[in-house]
Amino acid sequence: MPTTRTQVGIVGAGPAGLMLGHLLHLAGVDSVIVENRSEEHVIERVRAGVLEQGTVDLMRGAGVGDRLQLEGMRHAGIYVRFAGTRHRIDMAALTGGRAITIYGQNEVVKDLIAARRATGRPLYFEASDVSVQEIDGRVPRLQFHVDGAVHDVACEFVAGCDGFHGVCRPSIPPSQLTVYEREYPFAWLGILADAAPASGELVYSLSERGFALFSMRSGSITRLYLQCAPDENLDEWSDDRIWAELIVRLRTNDGWQPNVGPILQKGITPMRSFVVEPMRYGRLFLAGDAAHIVPPTGAKGLNLAMADVTRLARAVARFFKDGDEAGLDEYSSRGVTRTWRAQRFSWWMTSMLHKQEPENPFDYRRQLAELEYLVSSTAAMTSLAENYVGVPFD
Ligand code: FAD
Ligand code: PHB
Repeated sequence: MPTTRTQVGIVGAGPAGLMLGHLLHLAGVDSVIVENRSEEHVIERVRAGVLEQGTVDLMRGAGVGDRLQLEGMRHAGIYVRFAGTRHRIDMAALTGGRAITIYGQNEVVKDLIAARRATGRPLYFEASDVSVQEIDGRVPRLQFHVDGAVHDVACEFVAGCDGFHGVCRPSIPPSQLTVYEREYPFAWLGILADAAPASGELVYSLSERGFALFSMRSGSITRLYLQCAPDENLDEWSDDRIWAELIVRLRTNDGWQPNVGPILQKGITPMRSFVVEPMRYGRLFLAGDAAHIVPPTGAKGLNLAMADVTRLARAVARFFKDGDEAGLDEYSSRGVTRTWRAQRFSWWMTSMLHKQEPENPFDYRRQLAELEYLVSSTAAMTSLAENYVGVPFD
């Protein structure tokens, strides 16, 4: 088996792996990126849509923000809706001008793949039997098959950017990791609809029938979610049933409701909080969903992944430039602190806005009281706003 060499072997071509490869390239560090799914699958997967200010600044600073600049939709506020009324939270006014940008994760991935191709550095799709070896030694290896050829790559470091179901985290001896986990007794049914957004900003709603979220992808595409059971059968949800449920949960007493149109895509997303500590074992570094999962209500997953790889790229570049390991040594502790902050916020948003299971009228009234307090207190709205737009990347 011929062995090739690289400085950083990157497993996974999601937002974390692709951005890491790009940042390392800008710092003159070589990498190999290996992904087990096809390029089309990775690009077409419908997922996140909310970019924090820090993610937008990162993309622009890294020279991959041109299309984001043209097509991204800057939102200065969000609405929370309960008891038939929408209340706006002016996030920019409460955070000294910080905002979020709506730009689909698949667009981010498309831009990063184009940037990678332009560098000519290796990016393999549809790899099978991907494994990492000797991660506690000086020369960890990345092994995989593509088109019948066996690849054995000797690396100085390996970055596990292969998401929650990847191979890197399970390669670490379980005795070396502490796992914190919480599952929720509900999931989200999400749709993409060919309908112009009826609101210029997102609407998070608590209704008697459960949570719903109004979002968008462009001036002609609406993205919507509704709380459902974790084992919900999609076949039982006709388009008419989905729209009826979304409208009941989102419409307001003044007559606002989402515009209806053909449903282009639908899927179910489980809800989970998950943290692994530390984010490093020997020469293997975990980043993004490989190390932590947040429930999507706080819109933090993609942004946490971007914060991880920003820190990791800087630490690796510093090591190759000066032999200084300080950034590598701090990588996990800094990441864990940021992760727990996002976990707290995502858990809080989720518990405030979802109908609890089993149902308890006390909880529902308490949640309404919490929402009433939120929209009537500048302090409470500021707390939501500064977490939602995101703390600056370190
Ligand atoms: P992934 O995107 O999961 O990428 C990992 C990659 O590794 C994948 O391409 C996978 O195919 C590949 N891989 C897996 N196993 C292997 C293997 N053995 N070998 C090689 N490659 C492998 N986050 C937000 O910030 N804002 C939002 O608004 C938001 N909304 C969301 C809505 C939904 C419905 C969902 C599901 C998620 C949402 N998220 C959101 C979370 C966000 O999508 C993830 O946090 C983000 O994708 C993490 O990026 P990643 O690169 O770490 O992992
Ligand atoms: C989305 O647009 O997909 C989206 C928006 C906000 C969230 C989660 C997902 O909290």
